[in-house]
Amino acid sequence: MSRTEADLAAGLDAGITLPFSWFADPAVFRAEQERIFARTWQYAVPTEWVAEPGEFATCHAGLVPVVVVRDHDGNLNGFVNICRHRATEVAQGRGKRESLQCPYHAWTYGLDGGLRAAPRSDRETGFDRADYCLRRVAIDTWGPMVFVNRDLDAPPLADVLGELPARVAAAGIDFGALHHHSRGEWEVAANWKAIVENYLECYHCPTAHPGFSKLIDVDPDEYQLTSGEWYSSQVGHVREPASGNGGAPYSLDGGSLEAHFHYVWPTFTINVLPGPANMTAFFFVPVDAGRTLTLADSFYADGVSEADIAAMEEFGNQVGLEDQALVESIQRAARSGGLEEGRLLLESEHLIQHFQRLVERALR
Ligand SMILES: [Fe+2]
Repeated sequence: MSRTEADLAAGLDAGITLPFSWFADPAVFRAEQERIFARTWQYAVPTEWVAEPGEFATCHAGLVPVVVVRDHDGNLNGFVNICRHRATEVAQGRGKRESLQCPYHAWTYGLDGGLRAAPRSDRETGFDRADYCLRRVAIDTWGPMVFVNRDLDAPPLADVLGELPARVAAAGIDFGALHHHSRGEWEVAANWKAIVENYLECYHCPTAHPGFSKLIDVDPDEYQLTSGEWYSSQVGHVREPASGNGGAPYSLDGGSLEAHFHYVWPTFTINVLPGPANMTAFFFVPVDAGRTLTLADSFYADGVSEADIAAMEEFGNQVGLEDQALVESIQRAARSGGLEEGRLLLESEHLIQHFQRLVERALR
């Protein structure tokens, strides 16, 4: 029997989770596309990928393909990356071009999204190219990162970030010093919400992440959890800063001894590891109720050695593999219907409660 909205809200107050069926139900997934992904900011690409006029890069706003492009006036434009003719994806990957040409019938759009040419359209009566511009999406940036939003009337990204940029700056994390290094991409056989929730607590760290827990002090009195309206933060520190390298598999010399894991509704996180200046934009693109692409854009300051970068990425990848096994296990169980709901330990998992309240509110 399904729980009423009042039951769900009261349950969340008491630490009872949302129904696990919501992780596997295609109807919930479809509702999320409309109620969440059609109106929230989604991380797109590093700003560096679209710095020059003509540079474009594809991304997603939920399921919807999007292309971000810099025009000759220096404006950053975002468009639904679907040809107005027969719905083919217009741009592929990333690159630099004077126009965006659909690979199907060569309909050609300007960097401003206007339809410049459609072969044989001059033979049609009543065909006006002005009627078939690429659909726009909203664009915003935070430091070296571009975000898109399908809702052109959405409040600016800054409203969602709240105090987060100030908190990041106060921690000495200087986005201006960072350059994009590489992107990793993995498909995970789990619902996007299971991945977010796994991100939002470190209660599982001692059991599931021995390497991570050796480096970072995950004791609940040492590992800080805070949440704003649309974001939440986890800040930890290196376990033994005074003794040697603190268990880090790379040099911590002169670097930060803090770890930062910040989440922004609904699918974006930034991760800063102890050590040389680094930041990873780690974000999630839903594929279907049971599958999610997880992507990681890593940024480092100039001068960080390739050896340290390789070691830091290996460290992050190990944590990611450990998490993947856990969330895929949750997904199999959620799909089975074998358990209706779970029980959060709110001292350690209140950021999940915060997230589930946002989900419940969005879908109500
Ligand atoms: Fe984890």
